[in-house]
Amino acid sequence: MKFFLDTANIDEIRDAAEFGLIDGVTTNPSLISKEGRSFKEIIQEIASIVDGPISAEVVSTDAGGMLEEAYELAKIHENVVIKLPMVKEGMKALKRLSADGVRTNVTLIFSPSQALVAAKLGATYVSPFVGRLDDVSHVGMELIGDLVRIFDNYSFQTQILVASCRNPLHIRDAALLGAHVATMPYGVLGQLLKHPLTDIGLDRFLKDWEKVAKAGRD
Ligand code: G3P
Repeated sequence: MKFFLDTANIDEIRDAAEFGLIDGVTTNPSLISKEGRSFKEIIQEIASIVDGPISAEVVSTDAGGMLEEAYELAKIHENVVIKLPMVKEGMKALKRLSADGVRTNVTLIFSPSQALVAAKLGATYVSPFVGRLDDVSHVGMELIGDLVRIFDNYSFQTQILVASCRNPLHIRDAALLGAHVATMPYGVLGQLLKHPLTDIGLDRFLKDWEKVAKAGRD
């Protein structure tokens, strides 16, 4: 399973990349807007840190505009993946980008039929938003289960990129279901390592070891 970091913050990306755990990065207009810097500059800097797919999202609302943006973004770095919204114009742009061999990530997926459409049009990734489904009392992971089954039924090459992950259980469940990728905020990546019993256990080992060291000195 691949781990992507869902952020546009360079400090977070640099820190997570030091672990060697990050296979790629996803950004979106909201994440970019938090950074107060130029979009191109941010994507270039991310590409200099992480050697893996970097999703950069278009903001036009018509297919022509989306394509113009897509080709500009694709020029920034070979690892840029064009993120398109799951709307009709986005799907027109997707068809064209797929034909041109440009890698794509279709975002804001909330139903199996949306993902099926994107896969049929050759999306490289689909991004179902599990946290936002949970927010409105739909079990987000049920969608992931459906997508794994549907893509498997037809041997689609499109990868399921579980997005809007809010906690370690989302990552566990995505892994159990066999999703290809989970993208997560920096905080969730840190939570994956944590368990209170680990901290208590380590504390005890170190305290006991102090006794060994003290006995050696006495
Ligand atoms: O990758 C999509 C993600 O950024 C959305 O997360 O927490 O805003 O639903 P969230």
